[in-house]
Amino acid sequence: MTFLPTLKNENLFGKTVLVRVDLNVPLHNGAVTDTTRFLAIKETVTYLLENQAKVLLLSHFGRPQADNDSSRWDLSHSLKNLATPLEEILGCSVQFVNHFTGPAVNQALAALPPQTVLLLENIRFAPGEEANQPAFAAQLAENADLYVNEAFSCSHRAHASIEAITHYLPSVAGFHFEKEVTYLEKCLSHPHHPLVAIIGGSKVSTKLELLTNLCQKVDTLIIGGAMANTFLAAQGIDIGDSLFEPNLLPIARDILETSQATIFLPEDVITAIDLNDTQGFVQPIHSVSAGCKIFDIGPHTIQKIISILGTAQTIVWNGPLGAFEYALFEQGTVAIAKALSDCTQQGILTVAGGGDTISALKMAGVTDRLSYVSTAGGAFLEWLEGKELPGIKALLKNTKNLEFSDYSL
Ligand code: 3PG
Repeated sequence: MTFLPTLKNENLFGKTVLVRVDLNVPLHNGAVTDTTRFLAIKETVTYLLENQAKVLLLSHFGRPQADNDSSRWDLSHSLKNLATPLEEILGCSVQFVNHFTGPAVNQALAALPPQTVLLLENIRFAPGEEANQPAFAAQLAENADLYVNEAFSCSHRAHASIEAITHYLPSVAGFHFEKEVTYLEKCLSHPHHPLVAIIGGSKVSTKLELLTNLCQKVDTLIIGGAMANTFLAAQGIDIGDSLFEPNLLPIARDILETSQATIFLPEDVITAIDLNDTQGFVQPIHSVSAGCKIFDIGPHTIQKIISILGTAQTIVWNGPLGAFEYALFEQGTVAIAKALSDCTQQGILTVAGGGDTISALKMAGVTDRLSYVSTAGGAFLEWLEGKELPGIKALLKNTKNLEFSDYSL
């Protein structure tokens, strides 16, 4: 297991702690529509305040143009708008300062009332952030005594507030960060076998490295969604007018031939002429009609997947198995979400992640019924690809003389 340097046993009294969080949340008409990432940081923030630390919260929001000139910052990406919704979830006051370094931050810190956290401006307004600039990280560090990475979902980015900063401050993982790493390791690095992965989504091209990695790690790989079409076509199966990636046929064939995992592909499907049709047809995979497109897995395939899942000890899921945004084609994805919930009840470790996957879990009403749902998108995918995440590597190089986490499930 990876033992990360942890906040536990740190002497926090009177210290200023710079906490990198991920406040990159979805908004609709200015309102936060999903507060999961706010909830994820609550334990760490509460712990720091209870232990008399001063808390500086640092995050990015969206992908604004970086500029040193604050008069030109795109205020629609300002973190100011998130202070009030954040207060509601954290249960403490949140003050905002429209900078991230220098005297403005110093003064706000000096005047910070007790039980109040200071939220800094969107770190991506600074050119030094994405450039992972050491000089910028050193400036960020000037205002703090300790750095906490509580943004696992950003830890695939070698940015200054994730990587370079750890060269200038003692650095530890936040509680939620530890939890993410612990569960992801439990499901991929040290799993109980059989380990089953369910991978869906539209394109093989976006998940090629992930599929290649999983083929070497899991016992059974279930492939669904439009990406399954490319694998079906690679086997010479007539998939009608379904979307697939012709240039990836050789690679798909190679994966099928060399995989150490048993690969399961849909055996029946739901088809239609197009997504807005009012009726779908259940068709065995060898009888897809000409002119039809595959939009979901069929009932027989659902049952087969459920029985495979029933034999697993560990299950990891990323990506929908059909066009689940359309009511006619949501059944496969929703059925698998519910099956994962049932598996969790039976004591199987179930871990899911990725934006669409989380939406599917919500749709099925089972978000809270899996062992763990990752708050990360890109970082979760890179983990599944087997990549070393810069944010984790940066914390590990810092482990000398620090207490280690013994977080266990
Ligand atoms: C996310 O939403 O996945 C993280 O906040 C990272 O955002 P990014 O892809 O813009 O780096």
